[in-house]
Amino acid sequence: QKIYHHHQIDSTNKEAKKLAAAGEKEGTIVISEEQLAGRGRLGRTWVSPPQTGIWMSVILRPPISPADASKITLIAGLAVCEGIQAVTGLPAQIKWPNDIVLHNKKICGILTEMSAEMEKVNYIILGIGINVNINSFPEDIKNTATSLKIEGEKDYDRKEIVKAILTNLEKYYEAYLNKQDLEDLLEKYKRHCLTLGKEVKIIHRNEEFIGKAVDLSEEGELVVEKQDGQVVTVFSGEVSV
Ligand code: BTN
Repeated sequence: QKIYHHHQIDSTNKEAKKLAAAGEKEGTIVISEEQLAGRGRLGRTWVSPPQTGIWMSVILRPPISPADASKITLIAGLAVCEGIQAVTGLPAQIKWPNDIVLHNKKICGILTEMSAEMEKVNYIILGIGINVNINSFPEDIKNTATSLKIEGEKDYDRKEIVKAILTNLEKYYEAYLNKQDLEDLLEKYKRHCLTLGKEVKIIHRNEEFIGKAVDLSEEGELVVEKQDGQVVTVFSGEVSV
């Protein structure tokens, strides 16, 4: 397995995508000390200052259909959450589907990008960004973002966290591929998920509504009870607690 370690790069996702398109194998990792154009979900940018975070992307080639790709995101969320907890002892939680938060502020975001052909996944780029030893954030995200250092009041070893996350990721990814079943994973995921039982605002298929997140379906979708009693399942979309 290859690890490409950069001092500086535009975006590890972008680089990993280039490598994957050129045939790079599953399991290859691109990691950088700094990103100059880190990308977030929904076209946002991701603040990625030097030496203070984990900015990495993993190339995966799961033999699954594109419809199941979002499950890889849930698996990654669980792997990151448990990895952070194990190394730091901090009470990290998952905000469905894949933000990791500490005391309700975001410490990690996951951006999965997929290439598929003929109903088969060609590759998935799993991009993980974790705010580890960042001291402060720009004004516009100051109230919603935090770092392990701010919450734990000490510096953390980034390598140790990377190791813990990749070990978990391998374990959960293999388990999913072997069984094509999310049952055990979802049980663990639910334990760490702060969204369940909460009121959520959903933006789904151009519709915006408020409801209560009551469960996760077998497929990992969020089950939401609308105010009129109607129950809907949503897979992707913006959820705010
Ligand atoms: C989000 O918006 O929550 C997702 C943020 C994902 C950031 C990571 S950092 C490593 C990888 N490279 C990128 O450009 N983005 C992801």
